[in-house]
Amino acid sequence: MPFLSDTLSRVKPSPTIAVSNLAAELKAKGQDVIGLGAGEPDFDTPQNIKDAAIAAINAGKTKYTAVDGIPELKRAICAKFKRDNGLDYTPAQVSVGTGGKQILYNALMATLNPGDEVVIPAPYWVSYPDMVLLAGGTPVIAEAQAQTAYKLTPEQLEAAITPKTKWFIFNSPSNPTGAGYTAEELKGLTDVLMRHPHVWVMSDDMYEHLVYDGFEFATPAQVEPGLYDRTLTCNGVSKAHAMTGWRIGYAAGPVELIKAMGKIQSQSTSNPCSVSQWAAVEALEGPQDYIATNNELFRRRRDLVVSMLNEIEGMSCPVPEGAFYVYPSIAGLIGKTSAGGTKIDTDEAFAKALLEEKGVAVVFGGAFGLSPCFRISYATADETLREACTRIQDFCASLR
Ligand SMILES: Cc1ncc(COP(=O)(O)O)c(C=O)c1O
Repeated sequence: MPFLSDTLSRVKPSPTIAVSNLAAELKAKGQDVIGLGAGEPDFDTPQNIKDAAIAAINAGKTKYTAVDGIPELKRAICAKFKRDNGLDYTPAQVSVGTGGKQILYNALMATLNPGDEVVIPAPYWVSYPDMVLLAGGTPVIAEAQAQTAYKLTPEQLEAAITPKTKWFIFNSPSNPTGAGYTAEELKGLTDVLMRHPHVWVMSDDMYEHLVYDGFEFATPAQVEPGLYDRTLTCNGVSKAHAMTGWRIGYAAGPVELIKAMGKIQSQSTSNPCSVSQWAAVEALEGPQDYIATNNELFRRRRDLVVSMLNEIEGMSCPVPEGAFYVYPSIAGLIGKTSAGGTKIDTDEAFAKALLEEKGVAVVFGGAFGLSPCFRISYATADETLREACTRIQDFCASLR
């Protein structure tokens, strides 16, 4: 009898975490490595949020809480959905988990049966297909194209839906491309979904607040109220509030689904950290002005990276609307050979040679389901980004 479960053989470890680990390992060995793999803001958590957590500790808020979140946080989340998205939810429609990741996982675990399909647009956040596999479902990948700036078209969504489709996972602004759907573009997709009443919508709005140049964020239940009863609107404090380590994510949707998600959580992790929940109350209810300040920095970095990458012959990088990623195509570089003798026949070979020869860690596009590309996270200091892009330029110039 094998010791490890069959389920384990269906999933692979997160490639983005693998890149970050490798970069850290090389750095620890004294190598000059710039890591552009990690998907987290380089800013510290705002002081008012830290203070709220310290106050919670001092007030003894250190015990178990209700499994899927304290009432105060659920109320703050309802207010946030109303304020930012014009969506009406009651606390009974809200679930709080240990990061956005657990929320998505709970929802899939609570709903997928063998044979159920989940439509995932590619390029996708690395965890979606593996979470679906862990939950016993079948990921169906719908490939978006560079020509539409990696946004799925209504025709592509329509073609991916079958009678077995249970969920459509939607992520805007996207990890890994930063692409954000306008309300009009999203309406094209929700019109398709209205024609398929058996399909539920999981909207991962994690990067909602990280948008630039006046881009207006939109979420499916807002754009098409007819989808409200079969949409799970997911979000979290990790990215916009620089709280990745605090591990608080949340979602709102139909009560039956929310209860089912709570049941999964009650038999796995129980409540998310009590102190982090109080910090999240402050993040949602306290001042929001640092978001605009951080966004201005992010936009500047985005522009720096996009312009330096687009100077490279053989590379093309769309200008993303949001998040802190860019996703350049290296189609024009495939088939070349690096100065170190590596044949660049895939984006994985490109990323490996770039790390070995120039000490820049990026994540290859294959990890996100669309090649030949790579992802850069620009949530790092301007000088570091400039140095990294110069090294990428040098590396590409040395390809023969
Ligand atoms: C698109 C997307 N969704 C969800 C998450 C998970 O966020 P959290 O750190 O809150 O679990 C991430 C984190 O990288 C993400 O990029």
